Amino acid sequence: MTRPQSGIFAVGTPSHTYLEFDQRTGTDATSLVASIAGLRDPGTTMDGIDVVSGFRPELWRSLRPAGLPEAVIGFNEPVRGIEGFSMPATQHDAVVWLAGSSYDVVFDAARQVVAAVAKSATLADETAGWSYRADRDLTGFIDGSKNPSLLDAQDAALIPDGVPGAGGTILLLQKWTHDVGPWESLPTAEQEKVIGRTKPDSIELDPRPNDSHVARTDQDDFGTIFRRNMPFGTVAHHGTMFVGFSPEQGRLSRMLESMAGRVTGERDALTRYTTAVTGSYYFVPSIDALREFAASS
Ligand code: HEM
Repeated sequence: MTRPQSGIFAVGTPSHTYLEFDQRTGTDATSLVASIAGLRDPGTTMDGIDVVSGFRPELWRSLRPAGLPEAVIGFNEPVRGIEGFSMPATQHDAVVWLAGSSYDVVFDAARQVVAAVAKSATLADETAGWSYRADRDLTGFIDGSKNPSLLDAQDAALIPDGVPGAGGTILLLQKWTHDVGPWESLPTAEQEKVIGRTKPDSIELDPRPNDSHVARTDQDDFGTIFRRNMPFGTVAHHGTMFVGFSPEQGRLSRMLESMAGRVTGERDALTRYTTAVTGSYYFVPSIDALREFAASS
């Protein structure tokens, strides 16, 4: 099998940063990809840091026309739902996600990355993420209960051999800020109806409300994805960095449409308490595909 970027599956790291870049006008895409691929070279040591990089699908296609599934596109339009609800499109050209054991090593590595790509790209968005009480989201709920185990995660996330982009994956990176006041004024039993699971131990409610988050994103309906979500932010402004991987963009985009109320006419209750503030899709190539650029840099 074509080898994936291993950081996608390196769970357990507590400190993260997500760097999104825009290509500088007048530069060529090859230089941008080569500078990011080169981050793995011994010349720029990344000891102890997991690095995952991805590219705007159209940018990758311009360099490797058969290098990803045909229909994959950027987050180019907002996702519009019922009741005037929408999720914004804030697509950038490249993403580098760094994860490590503490923020000092992640911070130093992030500065190296920004310097290494500076000729080709500017930093457009930067979000530092950190794990909260092991595996809880800042809503207080356990996030990831229905994630595939690491035994199954590669099958859930990666484009299979024989398909364009094999060993790669499609990443949806979407930042949500929580509306803390309204959320925290809900009694726990009401919060549980919003998520569709119990708060202390993440047991699925039976029955679960149709507008609960787990009903609106049910993987039995949309297909399995692999999530590496992380809390981010400060006491005053915080939320969830949604980090979801899939071999098919449709699984992710249909989940968003469903959350917005466009699949069953019921909008995900969670969207009443948290607001999407960014949204980008990136193609995350296999390590073999990336290495072709590192070699040419
Ligand atoms: C603020 C944003 C979000 C928060 C706080 C959040 C939180 C959660 C929580 C607590 C669960 C239940 C436990 C679990 O199975 O992991 C869950 C399930 C899930 N979420 Fe989210 N989520 C968010 C956004 C999203 C988005 C944008 C998507 C898809 C594009 C998504 C896809 C899923 C899926 C697939 C499941 C499992 C559903 C199943 O039971 O099959 N989530 N989420």
